[in-house]
Formats: sequence, structure tokens, C-alpha cells
Amino acid sequence: MKIFLDSADRKLIEKYLSTGLIDGVTTNPSLLSAQGQNTKEVILDILRMVPGDVSIEVVEKSPDAVYEQAHQIAKLGDNAIVKIPFAFEYLPTIAKLVEDGVQLNITLVFSALQALMVAKLGVTYISPFVGRLDDIGSDGMVLIEDLVTLKQQYEFPSQILAASIRHVMHWERAALLGADVATVPPALIEAACHHPLTELGIKKFDQDWQKLGKQSLLE
Ligand code: E4P
Repeated sequence: MKIFLDSADRKLIEKYLSTGLIDGVTTNPSLLSAQGQNTKEVILDILRMVPGDVSIEVVEKSPDAVYEQAHQIAKLGDNAIVKIPFAFEYLPTIAKLVEDGVQLNITLVFSALQALMVAKLGVTYISPFVGRLDDIGSDGMVLIEDLVTLKQQYEFPSQILAASIRHVMHWERAALLGADVATVPPALIEAACHHPLTELGIKKFDQDWQKLGKQSLLE
């Protein structure tokens, strides 16, 4: 499974890139807006820092303006993936952009049929939002399960990018279900690393080693 970092914070991106785990980054207008006014500089920095795919969302509204902005974003770097929210009005734009060779991540996907439609258009990534479905009392993981089934059934190449991952279990279940990618908030990487038995085990090994009273293992 590929792991993307769901963040526009350059310091955090740098920190987690150093783990060697991060295959890409997803941003959205909310995450970018939290970084201040200099959005172009932030976007260009992230594109330079990250060796893998970086999703940048369009903020224009009309289909024509979305089309123009998508091309502008795509030109920013070879790893720039244009994020477009799912909407009926955008389907012709999405089809045209795919034809132009622009790599797309269709975001705010909340149903299997929305996903199937954009898979048919040949987009690179499809982002089902797990946490936001849970927020309204629906089980977001069922959508991941459904999309994995559809992908296997119709063998489409679009990658299922589990998004709106809010806790470790979301991430783990998305991995077990076979989502191609999970985009995870930075704090979850560390949260997923902790296990009380690992920490207890390290302590116990150290205590036993100290009993020997030796400084070096190999001398
Ligand atoms: C990523 O592509 C999404 O924009 C992000 O995961 C949304 O997460 P949220 O629902 O926690 O805002």
C-alpha cells in the first residue's frame, strides 16, 4: 500500500519524508489555507520536496475555469496531480483533461457509482472520504470495501486512495481491504507506531542487558 501524507505543512512533510515511508502528499484548500497567503510558494516547495505524487485541488468553480486551472496546476511539476471534486458538471471537463494527459485525483467521492463513473473516464486516483461518512452515521469503510470489489470486478487502473482517514483503525482496515493508497494525517504515522507491548518489550530487554553490567555488546 502506498502511504500519502495528508498535509500542506512543509515542516511536517519534511519530518515524515525522512521516515522513508511517504510515497506522496495530498493537499486540499482547507489544508493550504491554514498555511497562509503564499499558496503558490507553498505548493512549489511541496512539489520540489516530495519525490512522489502531490495532489493540488482546483479552487475555480465553472467547468471552463476548472479546465484552465487544472492545466496550470499540471504544469507546475511532473509530480503534480490535479484534484477535482466530483460533480456532474465536471464530467466533460474530467474526460477532456484525461484525454489531454493530465493526471487527476477525483475527490469528495461518497458513493460507489461516483467512483465507477470517474474510473470509466480513466482518472489516476479516486478519493473516497471515510471519516466524513462516519461523521454522518454511515460506515465509511463499507465504501472502501465496495470500491475494492468494483476495481477487482472491472479491472480499472484508477487507484483507490482512502481519504479522510481519522484514526489508526481506518488506515489499518483500508490496508486490509486492499485500498491502493491511504492518505494519512501526520499525527497518525506516529500513533500507528506505538504499541504498549513493543515499548514494554524494549524496556525489559534493556533491564536484562543492564544486569550483565557490560558496556559493549561485541567486545
Ligand atoms: C484528502 O485528500 C482529503 O482532502 C482529506 O483526507 C480530508 O480529510 P478530512 O475529512 O479529515 O478533512
